[in-house]
Amino acid sequence: MKCPDYPNKLQDLNVLISSSLKNCGIFNKTEHISLQKKLTTNLPKVRVNVDDISLVIGHLLTNALDSMPNGGKLLIESRYCKEHDSCVQISVSDTGYGIKKNKRDKIFWPFFTTKGEGKGIGLGLAISKRIIEDYGGKINVASTQGRGTTITLCLPAAFKSAKPRVAEKMH
Ligand SMILES: Nc1ncnc2c1ncn2[C@@H]1O[C@H](COP(=O)(O)OP(=O)(O)OP(=O)(O)O)[C@@H](O)[C@H]1O
Ligand SMILES: [Mg+2]
Repeated sequence: MKCPDYPNKLQDLNVLISSSLKNCGIFNKTEHISLQKKLTTNLPKVRVNVDDISLVIGHLLTNALDSMPNGGKLLIESRYCKEHDSCVQISVSDTGYGIKKNKRDKIFWPFFTTKGEGKGIGLGLAISKRIIEDYGGKINVASTQGRGTTITLCLPAAFKSAKPRVAEKMH
């Protein structure tokens, strides 16, 4: 988390994604899962603690895998944010069972879980939301029941404008 006495270093989103994938040991669990990465290169960096973001990505990957007990596709992406030109994004998409419309707001509530007894305590997304918002970012969900879910993390870039500028014409 943010700590004024120990300022965080600049981090590359793609490096954060690779280390999170390694840390959560996803490569050992993907027998029936195809994993795809679509990473945008040269994105502006973000000022975060690596462990915080690894924890968040780990929660998203665990949820995505849980939603695909019979296999499916997992996609992890990094990109510029289309809406805010000072933000960059990481998203995790699955082709799992999706989230019912009336449950979509609730998934970020502490202790909200649809997983059976002993399988989930409903804290992964509540903790993730708190971490991302502490960095001035946002976490969003898009889901279609029976088709899959995308969770997007939007983080402020460490520079004013994250979008690449068109080079000015020289006369
Ligand atoms: N990718 C997803 N696909 C389908 N449902 C999801 C997905 N991610 C989250 N959910 C729903 O949101 C609920 C809350 O998720 P959250 O990660 O906070 O808790 P949990 O996974 O149930 O338990 P914990 O993460 O504490 O082990 C889940 O129980 C599930 O119903
Ligand atoms: Mg979870």
